[in-house]
Amino acid sequence: MDYINIQNTSELAGCVRISGAKNAALPLLAMSILAKNEMRIENMPIVADIKTFLKLIGLLGGEFRSQEGTFFVDTKNILSKPATYDIVKTMRASILVLGPLLARFKECKVSLPGGCAIGQRPVDLHLKALEAMGANIIIEGGYIHAKAPQGLKGASIIFDKITVTGTENIILAAALARGKTRLINCAKEPEVVQVCETLIKAGVEISGLGTSELEIIGTNAQLLDLPTTRVIPDRIEAGTYLCAGAITNSEIKLENIEPTHMEFINKKLLEMGYSLEFTNSSVKLLKAKEILPVELVTAEYPGFPTDMQAQFMALATQAKGTSIIEERLFENRFMHVSELLRMGAKISLNGNIASITGNTTLEGTEVMATDLRASSALVLAGLIAKGSTQVHRIYHLDRGYANLEQKLRELGAKIERKSQEK
Ligand code: EPZ
Repeated sequence: MDYINIQNTSELAGCVRISGAKNAALPLLAMSILAKNEMRIENMPIVADIKTFLKLIGLLGGEFRSQEGTFFVDTKNILSKPATYDIVKTMRASILVLGPLLARFKECKVSLPGGCAIGQRPVDLHLKALEAMGANIIIEGGYIHAKAPQGLKGASIIFDKITVTGTENIILAAALARGKTRLINCAKEPEVVQVCETLIKAGVEISGLGTSELEIIGTNAQLLDLPTTRVIPDRIEAGTYLCAGAITNSEIKLENIEPTHMEFINKKLLEMGYSLEFTNSSVKLLKAKEILPVELVTAEYPGFPTDMQAQFMALATQAKGTSIIEERLFENRFMHVSELLRMGAKISLNGNIASITGNTTLEGTEVMATDLRASSALVLAGLIAKGSTQVHRIYHLDRGYANLEQKLRELGAKIERKSQEK
């Protein structure tokens, strides 16, 4: 098994180019199931989750090819075959094929994703919404068996909780439904907006973009002529590299970002004493005279992103004072705490609230990644820990960060990927 070895790095410098957003690319790939043409997607991040989703599209009969970061996906020969557990369990976002397959074929079978390290992660809201659109859904043998012999019909749907992929799944289903669908209390993430913008360019009438209420007029099962789409920059990857600069208190620059997608991340870094200089596609982090403690509560967009919680926890160990972090979206998203404690961090937990003592010297040691963003937090901690740190189970990292070691090396980090001697 590969692992990453990181040496203590006193300071970073230079510029890194941010990739396209994995969480924007995944629903765009699902959207290709609704297409009558070959879909062209530019700025695709080359990460494991994207490869897994493309494998699923291939298993369903779709075809794809790529030229560097541009992918061409053709689903003219796609069939409604089962999305099997072996694929869905490795990547929960596979659930995003449910809405499009049902809308296109009126019947599909998709494995329940099961839980993951950060929580039970149910998909009940996806299923309730599809039932409201006329689907008949039976759960049997760990699989979702969904049928809509008359096709899906528009409905008025209120989500009990704000769900990102739930919103995306239903937008995709509603695009081919008969009549109008109203979504209330839906997610407003930039990736949800990009899904809507792409569908609008394909002729689907959608109003309320960027708000918690959407109205979608479906095409009544007419497949779509999808436009070329360029995946938006990854705001979480950008936030992670800003935290790499912040934890080493360095001056670094990020290119190919969308500053308006990361306002809360920017706000919290400013509160911690850093300065940020923006253009419309780049940001320069300037050193903090003193790293100040932070209080943050994770929330749905545009609130502070839960996907940045672990990275800020690692950063908070270096602040001059005690920081408080509250995780409100997932019931078990503190898996990185035990590993940070092993590096000498002083963190106490009270339910979903963590209190992080600052001014802590971390010690390099062997640590284990548990989920995608926790693993990036351990890499950040390794940058400033004394000695060297080995991060194991880095397949978690590879799911969502393209060329992480190379990008950090370009910033001056002493980091390399090694293979565990057998
Ligand atoms: C998306 O996951 C992201 N993944 C996650 O990023 C991100 O952490 C999460 O949104 C929250 O921002 C993708 O976009 C592929 P949710 P998703 O449905 O859609 C509950 C990463 O690091 N819920 O918004 O699965 C759920 O348990 C990943 O890239 C239900 O109860 O998250 C959670 O408490 C990790 N029933 C809350 O809603 C449902 O049917 C938010 O979950 C659906 C969700």
